[in-house]
Amino acid sequence: MSQHLLLPVVILVVSPIPGAFQDSAASPTQGEFEDLDCGRPEPSSRIVGGSDAHPGTWPWQVSLHHGGGHICGGSLIAPSWVLSAAHCFVTNGTLEPAEEWSVLLGVHSQDGPLEGAHERAVAAIVMPVNYSRAELGYDLALLRLDSPARLGPSVRPVCLPRASHLFAHGTTCWATGWGDVQEADPLPLPWVLQEVELKLLGEAACQCLYSRPGPFNLTFQLLPGMLCAGYPEGRRDTCQGDSGGPLVCEDGGRWFQAGITSFGIGCGRRNRPGVFTAVAPYESWIREHVKGSEPGPAFPSQLQKPQSGPWEPGEENCSFAQPECGKAPRPGTWPWEAQVMVPGSRPCYGALVSDSWVLAPASCFLDQQPRISDSSSVALETWRVLLPSRREEERVARLVPHANASRDSASDLALLQLRTRVNLTAAPSAVCLPHREHYFLPGSRCRLARWGRGESAPASAQLEAQLLNSWWCHCLYGRQGESVPPPGHPPHWLCPAYQEEEEAGLCWKDSGWSLLCREEGTWFLAGYRTLSNACLPPRAFYPLQTHGLWISHVTQGAYLEDQLTWDWGPEGEETEKQTCPPRTEHGACGLKPKATAAGVLWPWLTEVHVTGDRVCTGILVAPGWVLAATHCVLRLGSTIVPHIEVYLGRAGVSTLPQGHQVTSAPPLLCQTEGGPWVLMGMAVRGSRELFAAVDPEATWISQTVGEAHFLHLSGSPYWHPEGSDHCPQNLAGAASSPKVAALLLLLSVPLIRG
Ligand code: ARG
Repeated sequence: MSQHLLLPVVILVVSPIPGAFQDSAASPTQGEFEDLDCGRPEPSSRIVGGSDAHPGTWPWQVSLHHGGGHICGGSLIAPSWVLSAAHCFVTNGTLEPAEEWSVLLGVHSQDGPLEGAHERAVAAIVMPVNYSRAELGYDLALLRLDSPARLGPSVRPVCLPRASHLFAHGTTCWATGWGDVQEADPLPLPWVLQEVELKLLGEAACQCLYSRPGPFNLTFQLLPGMLCAGYPEGRRDTCQGDSGGPLVCEDGGRWFQAGITSFGIGCGRRNRPGVFTAVAPYESWIREHVKGSEPGPAFPSQLQKPQSGPWEPGEENCSFAQPECGKAPRPGTWPWEAQVMVPGSRPCYGALVSDSWVLAPASCFLDQQPRISDSSSVALETWRVLLPSRREEERVARLVPHANASRDSASDLALLQLRTRVNLTAAPSAVCLPHREHYFLPGSRCRLARWGRGESAPASAQLEAQLLNSWWCHCLYGRQGESVPPPGHPPHWLCPAYQEEEEAGLCWKDSGWSLLCREEGTWFLAGYRTLSNACLPPRAFYPLQTHGLWISHVTQGAYLEDQLTWDWGPEGEETEKQTCPPRTEHGACGLKPKATAAGVLWPWLTEVHVTGDRVCTGILVAPGWVLAATHCVLRLGSTIVPHIEVYLGRAGVSTLPQGHQVTSAPPLLCQTEGGPWVLMGMAVRGSRELFAAVDPEATWISQTVGEAHFLHLSGSPYWHPEGSDHCPQNLAGAASSPKVAALLLLLSVPLIRG
């Protein structure tokens, strides 16, 4: 703090807080100016989850401008003094000079000519010497105006509480400001002052909420001189840009300022109420600094002493709000599943994300155009939405496609507003949406649900899946050279591994799937994919979390939920591997997901079924090409090419039909340091331990299969200890083995990466 005193032109008075937390009620008349009437708006006439204030309702509210725009709020406490938050004036530890600030008084809408408003320059900024960061307390500042404000109907001071003033918890008070209406969502034009009713939370109740770790183990220790206001269920709060503004409570017909908007975790989040600087403890500090200016602030005595003080514990129980979304008692029967019916086309499946908005693929509604922009021409009157347990169909008021929506793109999304809000009960209810920083843990339990327009979509379309390691997913599907997004950064892809084999009946052609993932019993819409080929469900999904801002901006009320499960430990290798191994145009080769799902342990292993009940192991070396041992496929001396069928993606899962047995011993795979597995050898006929090296056949393989990918191991002679005993310590040893007898099988149906 002392470096502030070295600033050249600062008119800053840094001062300790004498007895900041002492009750100075013993000297009630000291420094009081009885002539200043305070806390009474003229009887006439965002804050998250708030509404437009009426002009003149909050005449002490001021707007603090810096660099030509609104930065923070403040409150007029005396003709020449404004109370605000210290953090508004400090950037990177440096105080912005007072002369760069101006105070706007009597403003209602900040758009256009400010009628009835006037402006004052700031002569000095005073803040507690102990202030360093809002989260460490002392977040208040006094601004001395260069000339007194003109008091009038829309410009009046607020009353300040004495140190002995008790604001009982449970009291409803009001916060006001021009701040964001949601996280990262600025107040729209015409920038009308917002007001929101907030309940004072007792210290214990608030601490209890903040002690419970949120995503990334975030907890917070409340300090003396702070107070909380809001609701466990969130949704109503102050937000960025409201800081410095007042939280006022009524007592005997006057409004007292109980708090100064200071900070929070996000805005309006569940179990994360807003934190304010409590004003009462600073009575003597304020008096000290305004001394000598007349009239000074008024500290009227409290008329209604609360029956129960905020200091009585026991009374407040620690009650966390549970998510209000994502509850599905019977997974598979999704209470948020919405069917959008557009005349002349198949129903399109989407999800209810709030009481009046449905999220669905944009391509459902605008699939004729390659790029979707104009939705005004769409005849919404004929559209209907069918929701679970609702007999009546909902009508559609508005269609808002994502600005970059195109088929099978990461932005193939549209929001549909229902004409009337639905009552959210057990069904219909909304699905939870992940915040941008949400990190779905590898191994999360997920399900696939219908998404978009499907060809006779079976109601049972709900494959079980488990999320794969994000490193693996990223390296397979991400763009080359990109580094793997660490937890806390949105992934580029989400990869599920399917628990069950795809049932034959479960073919949903030409459609999409959404990926629902569960955390502590709550379902999140984690990803979606509109294009699926043949009957295969997609292997990679677009993460929804990158669209949270757009969705909350449009819907103003979608259920964005903090992460509920976050206990990945330091051992989470997830964070260690930041780079991907070399890769082919078909993705990286030799990557094996963690042993989370039985079905994909060795994703390149195939079952080669040969006439005569023989089954051998084949290795997928490129899309369309499988390498297998010659002796397994061809009978000795026979020139007849048998009938061969190759099964992919099920090695190790399926039980072989009776009488079948795997004739060929498994291949020798070794893991390199970077992670990818390399096919080193093929078992020599009749042996399970003797392998013939594949390396000498590299030329033959690459001439036949142009896309086969060879890892150049010269730079990395190290083999991962996980590899078998047969894996060479150095590559020289690999060449001296018997000659491999292998053949390559060209698949008749080209393989498309799912
Ligand atoms: N620090 C913010 C500001 O500078 C105020 C944030 C209040 N946040 C909250 N969740 N109550 O405007």
